[in-house]
Amino acid sequence: MRAFLHLFAFLSGATAQAALNTSEVSIVKASHSGNGCPQGTVSTSFSADRTTITLGFDSVRPYIGPGTSSLTRSRNCAINLQLNYPSGWNFVFTNVTWHGYFTLSEGIRASFYTSFELRSRDTQVATVPVATLNGTAKAASVLFHEELPVADQLSSSCHPYSSSGLNSETVTVRDRWALTATKTDVYQEEWMEEGAALVQQLKLRWQECKY
Ligand SMILES: *[C@@H]1O[C@H](CO)[C@@H](O)[C@H](O)[C@H]1NC(C)=O
Ligand SMILES: *[C@@H]1O[C@H](CO)[C@@H](O)[C@H](O)[C@H]1NC(C)=O
Ligand SMILES: *[C@@H]1O[C@H](CO)[C@@H](O)[C@H](O)[C@H]1NC(C)=O
Repeated sequence: MRAFLHLFAFLSGATAQAALNTSEVSIVKASHSGNGCPQGTVSTSFSADRTTITLGFDSVRPYIGPGTSSLTRSRNCAINLQLNYPSGWNFVFTNVTWHGYFTLSEGIRASFYTSFELRSRDTQVATVPVATLNGTAKAASVLFHEELPVADQLSSSCHPYSSSGLNSETVTVRDRWALTATKTDVYQEEWMEEGAALVQQLKLRWQECKY
């Protein structure tokens, strides 16, 4: 029995997962541009366990009505995030969550589009399933969870060694919010509550590089 316990301890020790040193993971640079995010209207934060990036949008205001063009019905924002992390590790984006407080008229549909692009893989884009909200004319706190299909989960670069011991990856998150009318003569101006940010959470999974 004792020998068995020793063997077990040895085996579980040998297969133990190394832990990501979260103090070596950070967003070193963040910038944004687009007609849905004037400068200074996007906030960025990283959870302590480094598995959730939270973006807060203060100024996404698409609207629809007589005389509006596709530019006002659809707003976009590209957010560039430069992440540093320890060599020997990489990450994949797995899930996207939207949270906000909306009053959307009946006959209006809001669609939330997101894609990711990793600079080290600049020909590859991961597209998140579209989140849609159909107006009911009632104010409501709304939460959407979208999961990226495994085949669409791009992994960040995986350099085993670097002189600084750190790896770097720039991620571009492209968001677009669009309103469409499902019947004629519908109007929609303010639908995101004034003073309440639209929040997007990006979930990351960290993994050890395999060589
Ligand atoms: C984590 O990284 C920090 C900064 O590089 C370092 O000071 C600390 O010793 C590391 N912790 C572990 C457990 O390796
Ligand atoms: C992603 O979302 C799905 C469904 O909402 C959930 O089952 C899964 O655990 C989530 N994955 C992560 C990594 O958060
Ligand atoms: C919104 O309405 C469309 C068409 O009526 C439907 O296909 C879609 O599933 C609805 N979306 C939600 C989130 O209820």
